[in-house]
Amino acid sequence: MVQLQRVGKVYRLGPVRIQALADVSFRVGKGEFAILTGPSGAGKTTLLRLLYREEVPSEGEIQVAGFDVTALRRAEVPMLRRAIGIVFQDAKLLPGRTAYENIAFGLRVLGVPRREITPRVFQALKAVGLSARAQALPAQLSLGEQQRVALARALAKEPALLLADEPTGSLDEAVSLEVLDLFHQIWQRGTTILLATHSRTLASQLKRRTLVLESGRLVKDEGG
Ligand SMILES: Nc1ncnc2c1ncn2[C@@H]1O[C@H](COP(=O)(O)OP(=O)(O)O)[C@@H](O)[C@H]1O
Ligand SMILES: [Mg+2]
Repeated sequence: MVQLQRVGKVYRLGPVRIQALADVSFRVGKGEFAILTGPSGAGKTTLLRLLYREEVPSEGEIQVAGFDVTALRRAEVPMLRRAIGIVFQDAKLLPGRTAYENIAFGLRVLGVPRREITPRVFQALKAVGLSARAQALPAQLSLGEQQRVALARALAKEPALLLADEPTGSLDEAVSLEVLDLFHQIWQRGTTILLATHSRTLASQLKRRTLVLESGRLVKDEGG
């Protein structure tokens, strides 16, 4: 599902050269749940951004969901993005729209046929335990619920791969555990997941394969 071969990423800020990733190679198979961890600045966000082609690598090869990401032409990028669901630290919901509309909006943009939208939105809301809150506005939802809507929005795409970048970063510990439990349930129903967190505690609680980045290098791959 995901394969990186000797991937490097250098950011250039004028004369300054930042090696965000160096010689990173690994593979995540279909149906796997892998955690990407390591301290702040280790390169986790950069790595995820390379997978959905928000950044291009300075070297190496990347394959995601059957796409050769490094060779992808600009016009093909939306096809890659369609195959990937993404959840960030902040839910980034449209404030004036209900939970339902936030999810439906993304599906319309993808060109999902109208009659499929309502069932897919409700199926996704059910998967995160929020069927009853479909008509709530983001401001009427707790942070944890907002993050569950963001997760439902990603799931409604029925993605081949679910990426999450610090999805519990704005939540307290109890709510973080609930959200992680949802990721676990989603994985059990067959979605491939790559979840980045700087928290070693959360990473170890998930008891899944853990890839550890340090200063842009993959230093550990354990529990697979
Ligand atoms: N857009 C960017 N431009 C320049 N440097 C960046 C950019 N994004 C990240 N970096 C640098 O790359 C390194 C890795 O950052 P990042 O991928 O955000 O790590 P993490 O998500 O593990 O905290 C850091 O040194 C960071 O400052
Ligand atoms: Mg990050």
